Amino acid sequence: MKYFILFGPPGAGKGTQATAMVEKYNLRHISTGELLRKEIAAGSELGLKAKSLIDAGALVPDEIVEGMIESEFRTVKGVNGFLLDGFPRTAAQAEALDKMLSKTSEEVTSVVSIMIPDEMIRERIKHRASIEGRADDASDETITNRIKTYHGKTEPLVEYYKKKGKYSEIDGTGTIEEVREKIFALMDRF
Ligand code: AP5
Ligand code: MG
Repeated sequence: MKYFILFGPPGAGKGTQATAMVEKYNLRHISTGELLRKEIAAGSELGLKAKSLIDAGALVPDEIVEGMIESEFRTVKGVNGFLLDGFPRTAAQAEALDKMLSKTSEEVTSVVSIMIPDEMIRERIKHRASIEGRADDASDETITNRIKTYHGKTEPLVEYYKKKGKYSEIDGTGTIEEVREKIFALMDRF
């Protein structure tokens, strides 16, 4: 199995690009954000726990998302691999992922990182807010906290994966099609 990590700040275009990537390379898309939003919509206990943290622009506890990922790995069959969108997001999650995969002598294949500057994060999220109505896109304060959380807790993973020689970065500021072509050119190598 291949394990790709689709990395990048909020609004970078991870969800947008994931659709074409999973189709072209026969991967299963796992977005922890989407899984959490489904739990919230279903009104589950886990969803209730996650809602206030997500609405504040904070991260939910590592154990919750790690459990979600492991259960997807166990149950999904018939694909060439997985595309992890929004996971890992902390050093602890990255280490937990390595540990999970080592049980079956597997490892992360590559990190595909989509980068955009902070100002573009705001523009993209505001644009999406007018279309999708995601609760965590609604207030400037939440968006600011998500950007802070990204720089403080998630960005350090760039070094983590660079050290392992698994990190590739793509300029995410072009059009959706331009970014997609760059991603495909990179993914074709794996
Ligand atoms: P999550 O759902 O992962 O949100 P995120 O990381 O903030 O990323 P987004 O989904 O906002 O952005 P995206 O990169 O997918 O951009 P998109 O393609 O939509 O997480 C939400 C919350 O859940 C977290 O804050 C946290 O609380 C919790 N959570 C999730 N995972 C967790 C974890 N592992 N640990 C702990 N907590 C976790 O694009 C954005 C907009 O831009 C769209 O409107 C799109 O149409 C547009 N767009 C995209 N590309 C382009 C382009 N090239 N040009 C112009 N517009 C574009
Ligand atoms: Mg997304």
